[in-house]
Amino acid sequence: MLCRSADIPPGAVIAKELVGHPIVLFRTHAGKLHALDAHCTHMGTHLGSGNVVGDCLRCPLHHWRYDGTGQCQGAKPGVGQRAWPVVEKYGGVMVFYGTVPLFDPPGFDGLPEEELCTRVGRSVTIQCAWMGISSNAFDMRHLDAVHQRALRETPTVELLDPYRLRLKYVSRVTGHGLPDRVMKWLSDDHIRVCITSWGGTGFTVESRVGRQTSMLLLSLMPTRLQTREGGGEVNILPLFVRRRKGVPFINWIGIRMASWLFTRFLEKDIAMMRGMRYRAPAVMGPDEEPLRSYLRFIEQLPKGAGGFAMEGTCGQE
Ligand code: FES
Ligand SMILES: [Fe+2]
Repeated sequence: MLCRSADIPPGAVIAKELVGHPIVLFRTHAGKLHALDAHCTHMGTHLGSGNVVGDCLRCPLHHWRYDGTGQCQGAKPGVGQRAWPVVEKYGGVMVFYGTVPLFDPPGFDGLPEEELCTRVGRSVTIQCAWMGISSNAFDMRHLDAVHQRALRETPTVELLDPYRLRLKYVSRVTGHGLPDRVMKWLSDDHIRVCITSWGGTGFTVESRVGRQTSMLLLSLMPTRLQTREGGGEVNILPLFVRRRKGVPFINWIGIRMASWLFTRFLEKDIAMMRGMRYRAPAVMGPDEEPLRSYLRFIEQLPKGAGGFAMEGTCGQE
């Protein structure tokens, strides 16, 4: 997830990076959103300062025009820009890092979008190995040390398909801070959590607290080449989701409450992860099955344009 849908109104063009690769997003006046490589095929001008003309993006330097598939108008078929698969969901813009999406964009099963209220949070970029952040949700041992939560029972892990791994657990609060006390009070000290990793860079979190379920969609994108020493840089973009109730004011309060609680939770992880040089743990106890499963899951994901870039490669096929 790169930004909010609202960041790109009809007729707008914005420049972004997709796993360190420069792209542009543009929306036609009819409302269709497209993602193309940023540098013009002709002479390499950055298309971020181009204009939307009809259904095309026009390069500012010599006015070559590219449609949403990247085809250059008036040129031979196949001449043009690389196009990236893009979808809009929950008010966010999601781009698949590959030619054809290998799995559906992250979402919440059985909850139609019109029944939800959503809010895209602020993005943060931190110096940290992508794998360090990506594996964090499945690392049960840090729950107590960092988040002051204890497991109530053995967590379960399920591989839904080769691209999605799901973890479920029930925890109780051991901390005494304000967010901890609010959580304890709201949940009757039973926090039911379901986390799904979608290809390692998308996460959906459903946290059932009392009768309320708060949802989070987290995008974890490596922004620069990951180094062999286990370092790197990651962009984190959260999207908060709640089921819509009849009263707008209740929705407003509910989504802000969910944002506040999730943000306080994630800030703790981020504080620990800054400057991390990730290495896979050499020793894992029998209680670390979720982390072990996660490392296996990441290992078997296809690499290349769908995987993350390593030092010395540009991440393309
Ligand atoms: S550089 Fe884009 S049209 Fe010439
Ligand atoms: Fe965490």
